[in-house]
Amino acid sequence: MDFALSAEHELIRESAAKFGRQVVVPDVQARDREARSDRAMLDRMAEAGLLGVGIPTAYGGPGADYLSLGIVCEELERADSSARVVLSVHNGLHALTLLQWGAEEQRKRWLPALAAGSKIGAFALTEPNAGSDAANLTTRARKDGESYVLNGEKTWISLADYADQVLVVARLESAPAGVAPYVALIVSRDLEGFSSKPLKGKLGVRAGNTGQIFFENVRVPADARLGEEGDGFKVAMSALDHGRYTVASGAVGIIAACLDACATYAHDRKVGGEEIGKKQLVQQMIANMVAGRDIGRLLYYQVGWMKNAGLRHTREVSLAKWQNCNAAFQAANDAVEIHGAYGYCDEFPVERYFRNSRGAMIYEGTREIHTLMQAEYALGYRVDKPLKHSLPAWTV
Ligand code: CAA
Repeated sequence: MDFALSAEHELIRESAAKFGRQVVVPDVQARDREARSDRAMLDRMAEAGLLGVGIPTAYGGPGADYLSLGIVCEELERADSSARVVLSVHNGLHALTLLQWGAEEQRKRWLPALAAGSKIGAFALTEPNAGSDAANLTTRARKDGESYVLNGEKTWISLADYADQVLVVARLESAPAGVAPYVALIVSRDLEGFSSKPLKGKLGVRAGNTGQIFFENVRVPADARLGEEGDGFKVAMSALDHGRYTVASGAVGIIAACLDACATYAHDRKVGGEEIGKKQLVQQMIANMVAGRDIGRLLYYQVGWMKNAGLRHTREVSLAKWQNCNAAFQAANDAVEIHGAYGYCDEFPVERYFRNSRGAMIYEGTREIHTLMQAEYALGYRVDKPLKHSLPAWTV
């Protein structure tokens, strides 16, 4: 067992942190206040090579492994959740799922442009009446010759208005007996009948784009299907294995950001002539943040290591996502507490961390879903079977 990060990992951490400090942080307070996402941010991320992290060099990636993806997510979310969400959706939910399930021809067709960031990918599973109960989705795909005709509506889709292509999970009409009624399709935005619109009034991640996507008789070529007919739900669950990893690692970045803000404030703010950092109740909250950050890193590093080794990690990533998001929300709540009235306004960043960390307890599996999953694993009700298609182990 080796707990040390390699020199390459340290380097990628530093360059992602620098990107966060220099590109994301300067205008994030204004963009969050105005609920304004910025398409140009994706180009800046592409230029910095961030949109290819986790994609093997054989498909145009920069050679940064799956653990690097977690490290980058941590550092980006230290700056703002909206930057990390881009990687969750584009690199995690979309590109890694394509790598896992795509035939060689499909990987070659799509991954190089995704790695370069010249195409942006998103993931559409959730619907107005299918959230935690994802299997209840009603967007329909009807096979018609060499195409699927897609009709329906997806919601809460990050990058809905910016994605060039979306991994869509739909209900397969007239599925043959014994075939699960789900299909996964890579749907290009330029197909006729595809439209999207942004969602307004979010509590958090206000500097990021989230929207609805509508399909009206969208004719998707059959060669854009990932896996076989019937694999759609499994493709979706695989995508969540990747997305949850990025959320778990990003959550550690929120805790680190809370710690940064609180350590500074605890030294600056004085009560009765003494720094509030000397107060034991403040120290308790600071100590909890340190624990959340360091335990959270161990949890996501383990998942990164399992990904690199080509091991199934559905249980471990659910645990990491659940625990790290809980710890991030606790840290952000305590950060507001430490800042007092200043924590209640956007002069300081901690109120943004508080709002952003709340969302991560809902998306990519609610706190309740992960609680149930962990109990089911422990009780033997849930057992992970070998996968039909695994994420390829990382080979340099
Ligand atoms: N990889 C591959 N296959 C998997 C899998 C995985 N990680 N997890 C499950 N499967 C397979 C199972 O082996 C099973 O296969 P068989 O039928 O051959 O046995 C099949 O998929 C069904 O699995 P389950 O029995 O576990 O299905 P379930 O109905 O019990 O799942 C659930 C319940 C775990 C709660 C699941 O519905 C779930 O995770 N719900 C939460 C959905 C979610 O996280 N949504 C967020 C969407 S993304 C988002 O938030 C927005 C955004 O923009 C990012």
